[in-house]
Amino acid sequence: MAAPTEPSSPARVVVLVSGSGTNLQALLDATAEGGPAYGAEVVAVGADRSGIEGLRRAERAGLPTFVRRVADFASRPEWDVALADAVSAHRPDLVVSAGFMKIVGAEFLARFGGRIVNTHPALLPSFPGAHGVRDALAYGAKVTGCTVHFVDDGVDTGPVIAQGVVEIRDEDDEAALHERIKDVERRLLVDVVGRLARDGYSIKGRKVYIP
Ligand code: GRF
Repeated sequence: MAAPTEPSSPARVVVLVSGSGTNLQALLDATAEGGPAYGAEVVAVGADRSGIEGLRRAERAGLPTFVRRVADFASRPEWDVALADAVSAHRPDLVVSAGFMKIVGAEFLARFGGRIVNTHPALLPSFPGAHGVRDALAYGAKVTGCTVHFVDDGVDTGPVIAQGVVEIRDEDDEAALHERIKDVERRLLVDVVGRLARDGYSIKGRKVYIP
């Protein structure tokens, strides 16, 4: 998996969202509050659906947005190329999938592999997929958390960059547990994106090194 060692300064970040966009908001706040010292700036926000709060957050921040809906394309690979083209137009150093509920395809990975960061609400490799919070609860796990990782061609299988741990309480339901995970997740994502941008990184096999 190739990775840039000399990111632009500040690193250009395109964020992909599908929902409420609170992780996106954390990145926007970090950029606004940290200024150039943070090392990264969100330059555009993309989505696979319209009418979501994540896009409204981007618009309020004055950022360009784009929507590429799978249903508008004849095939999944054509959607994947269109998404890659839209992202590419903003010349990102990093692409952050922050609650983006689609799996990107071969073309997207060929163009941005080693530069796509995803955040997942469980401690991978446990509980991958779309229901990581619900699955950890149903399993009866005592701890869960979040994982920020690079995206490869599997589902939540790429090299791990950082993880945060959250205790599961007896009284938790999925919503309560997910909110506590997201508290940790937002801080972790902001920290990771800043460090990747400021310090550079390398990926060797499954290991991610940030000097
Ligand atoms: C996050 O917990 C993310 O890991 C999961 O969906 C949530 C997105 O939250 N895939 P938000 O849209 O950033 O508020």
